[in-house]
Amino acid sequence: MCGIVGYIGREKASDILIEGLHRLEYRGYDSAGIAVPAGDGALEVIRREGKVEELERACAARELPATMGIGHTRWATHGRPSETNAHPHIDCEGKIAIVHNGIIENYVQLRDELKAEGHTFRSETDTEIVAHLLEKYYDGDLVAAMAKTVTRLEGAYGIAAIHVDHPDQIVVTRKDSPIVVGYAAEQQASLLASDIVAVMNYTRDVIFLEDGQIAKLTREGITCYDGNLAPIEPALTHVDWDAESAERGGYPDFMLKEIFEQPRAVRDTIAGAVKNGRVLLDELDLDDDDIEAIDSVCIIGCGTSYHAGLVARELIERWARIPVSVEVASEFRYRDPIVGSNTLVIAISQSGETADTLAAVRIARAKGAQVFAVTNCVGSRITRESDGVLYVRANMEISVAATKSFLAQIACLMLIAMFLGQKKGRLTTRQVNSLYYDLRETPSQIEDILQDTAEIEKAAKLIAKAHSVMYVGRGIGSTICYEGALKLKEISYLHAEAYPAGELKHGPIALLDETVPVVAVVTDSPTRMQTLSNVQEILARKSHVVAVATEGDEEAARIADCVLYVPPCKDWCSAITASVPLQLLARYVALERGCDVDHPRNLAKSVTVE
Ligand code: F6R
Repeated sequence: MCGIVGYIGREKASDILIEGLHRLEYRGYDSAGIAVPAGDGALEVIRREGKVEELERACAARELPATMGIGHTRWATHGRPSETNAHPHIDCEGKIAIVHNGIIENYVQLRDELKAEGHTFRSETDTEIVAHLLEKYYDGDLVAAMAKTVTRLEGAYGIAAIHVDHPDQIVVTRKDSPIVVGYAAEQQASLLASDIVAVMNYTRDVIFLEDGQIAKLTREGITCYDGNLAPIEPALTHVDWDAESAERGGYPDFMLKEIFEQPRAVRDTIAGAVKNGRVLLDELDLDDDDIEAIDSVCIIGCGTSYHAGLVARELIERWARIPVSVEVASEFRYRDPIVGSNTLVIAISQSGETADTLAAVRIARAKGAQVFAVTNCVGSRITRESDGVLYVRANMEISVAATKSFLAQIACLMLIAMFLGQKKGRLTTRQVNSLYYDLRETPSQIEDILQDTAEIEKAAKLIAKAHSVMYVGRGIGSTICYEGALKLKEISYLHAEAYPAGELKHGPIALLDETVPVVAVVTDSPTRMQTLSNVQEILARKSHVVAVATEGDEEAARIADCVLYVPPCKDWCSAITASVPLQLLARYVALERGCDVDHPRNLAKSVTVE
């Protein structure tokens, strides 16, 4: 959600900070700011409510020759979105400036203490106490002041600080909030950010700071310390995401670009996963005894990742015959869940930084369960808090609405389901080969769907006029309806509900009339006929119907106002294929309604607070 950048080098810092903030915009924010030395023994702090462009304009109007500084995009938690609450925040004398991601839980108590000692506060934020704590503990050494400051903080934080008397250094630390630092030797510059996207134009060799570590960035390099200020040498990680991936590459928005990247995302995720009929998931480091002992699977995640878990439940139960529960992480973490050493827990998170999912992982592990993370982000928190990691190969996802990461998650979970099925002796090598063959067909099936979107655009015009939309399906079809409805809600601000089609008559059918269109997934499946009967019930209530159906399905064409065809495939593969028209439908509806598809209101890409 919030984003941090920092630069110290030889170039004009404000330009580089603004560029970094632009790259972080996809995370969602409501205000932005930078702080740089002003050259007269003071700091120049420029902040604006709203878009980074506003800040950019304000910076352009000033002389800002400084070659170091910090910047921030804020997503309000404590204190409303405003210029006063925007970061950076400064101490009483305006000598220290800080930016902060996360939440300081004990800020009220600390603020009272600092006020009693004479500190003056200017904002409503929890963050500002950090600037005053640094002021309190500063004794000529900013690193030492940071080390003392963090001992007082409870909560989650990534913090970067500068001091006007130290124009040669930026100090940064973290706990439960990501910080990456890197040195660009050619430019003699050090950079930091809360997200690799903001530094990767300068360097690909980076350090993902661990909780409690402090880094001092200078023009000569980066020095890292543990919490006791003993120097340490954290490992460098080489990140090979291409810069192109961070740019729209000719598409009108990132969401569309990412939808079109889905064939590649699925291909990369499943590449080489089956050889000679054996599922090779070495990352699932489970020996035969471990597998034998597993008597249940529990899947946790939030939002779209949770929906990927719903698909996984169908397939793990189908192929491995192990009972599976799927839990929303924010509920799991507070309800004393029944998991233990015989439970395999799969935690799904695109970002790997979602606070609720991380908390759920900790609880599951504390109860003795083995936790495997399914994530898209190398070096993310979840990778360090789990017993093992399976990466989905979606590559960086910029649009707030998850698309390619969802399909890649599903593909990865399908491999896990096959793996468990094989290890449990339920799938033969021949069956695995056959399943893998079908799965490998899906990328080209997605390409087929993407070739012609005219009918989807027509359906979007119908849906865009409604005030509420219902999504129905059965089995796999119902799981992707939840995701389809979520996509519509988040980017078009149109109310949508998803129901298993058989549930309609138990209540929600009362909502239906000619003003409430229904999206019905009626692709080939063992329950297609039952779903079609439900569509008849829907038509009897005069609702317009948009059907997602298998190519050649004439019955769907007879009953629906619009039919979004997908190529013939196994019903389980339709979790991947039939999701694509639902994503595109949401996007076209959003565009019809004049919405910014990449930056939906009130939402952030990575939800690192509870
Ligand atoms: C919806 C969306 C969110 C995320 C959710 C979990 O498009 O992106 O619902 O899926 O916030 O995020 P991750 O997967 O990063 O844990």
